[in-house]
Amino acid sequence: MRSRSRRVSTHSSGTAQTPPSRSACQRANRRVTFTMINLRVPARTEDTPPPRRAAADLCRRSRAARMRNPAWWPQVRADMTTIGLIGSGNIGSTVARLAVAAGYDVVLSNSRGPETLRDLVAELGPRARAGTPAQAATAGDIAVVTVPLKAYRDVPADALAGKVVIDTNNYYPERDGVIAELEDGSATTGELLQRHLADAHVVKGFNNIYFKHLATLSRPAGAADRTALPIAGDDAGAKRTVTGFLDRIGYDTVDVGPLAENWRTQRDTPVYVTPYGSFTDPVGTPADAGTVRKAVAAATPDAG
Ligand SMILES: NC(=O)c1ccc[n+]([C@@H]2O[C@H](COP(=O)([O-])OP(=O)(O)OC[C@H]3O[C@@H](n4cnc5c(N)ncnc54)[C@H](OP(=O)(O)O)[C@@H]3O)[C@@H](O)[C@H]2O)c1
Repeated sequence: MRSRSRRVSTHSSGTAQTPPSRSACQRANRRVTFTMINLRVPARTEDTPPPRRAAADLCRRSRAARMRNPAWWPQVRADMTTIGLIGSGNIGSTVARLAVAAGYDVVLSNSRGPETLRDLVAELGPRARAGTPAQAATAGDIAVVTVPLKAYRDVPADALAGKVVIDTNNYYPERDGVIAELEDGSATTGELLQRHLADAHVVKGFNNIYFKHLATLSRPAGAADRTALPIAGDDAGAKRTVTGFLDRIGYDTVDVGPLAENWRTQRDTPVYVTPYGSFTDPVGTPADAGTVRKAVAAATPDAG
């Protein structure tokens, strides 16, 4: 019978240069003998493990390597390859770093012009380029609006028509000026942006986590200490897309409902920053979906 297995070369220490395929590992786990998968392990010495254990170690190591490699993580739609960032400050640059690490292209923009983003583009490498906000919006399969809220009306609505837009913005009246609808609770921050981007599909996200924790708490799918982020939006398809994007950059999601419900995740609510650690803690604490759900449920309408 012809074996469908592939040959694995080894160097002198016995470490495989080409990891066994996933199916080879599955076969190994079903205790099929390793001669069937054609693993060449070096002649045994005092400190080389027996062939079966060597191959099992190899599978374990290659599984761990896959989980570290974002290319193996769950995919959003295969044609969604570019993230357009309107705003490239603390949160924008952090999302861009995670997206590039997960294999996306990014187009960065800010208020001062693409030339001011040269250093960030250089740091991010060939998957990154800079443009105007309209160019970032046009290029993005998914756009991220991450500007001070006072600037939300500058976000290019025409270029974002029909697109999925993640809104990270929070309301700080001392920075943004007083916005009556937010003060009297007749709108949420997400609804404000959705009104401005009437033809886009706005999903609130990333707004409740400190940017340093967003950078440090990303984990591969299935990790025991994976963190969850709440999202809110009026379009189920857009939320699915954002869930896929977050999954790929290292986060689970908790859907809190439509944009009208995003008051539950706004500033000063229980899920705002604290579940992930304090501002003085540069590393942060993982917060799973159960923790996030509980915090969201504890929100009261007078906060946020
Ligand atoms: N910092 C956090 O940990 C955090 C966490 C969650 C949510 N948020 C919220 O997310 C938003 C961004 O926060 P951030 O901390 O990333 O702010 P930031 O560091 O001040 O960055 C803001 C970015 O927006 C750009 N920008 C400002 N006005 C613009 C305009 N009219 N058009 C295009 N780009 C414009 C800025 O560009 P220039 O520098 O060229 O002006 C800058 O790149 C805020 O609403 C904030 O409340 C922040």
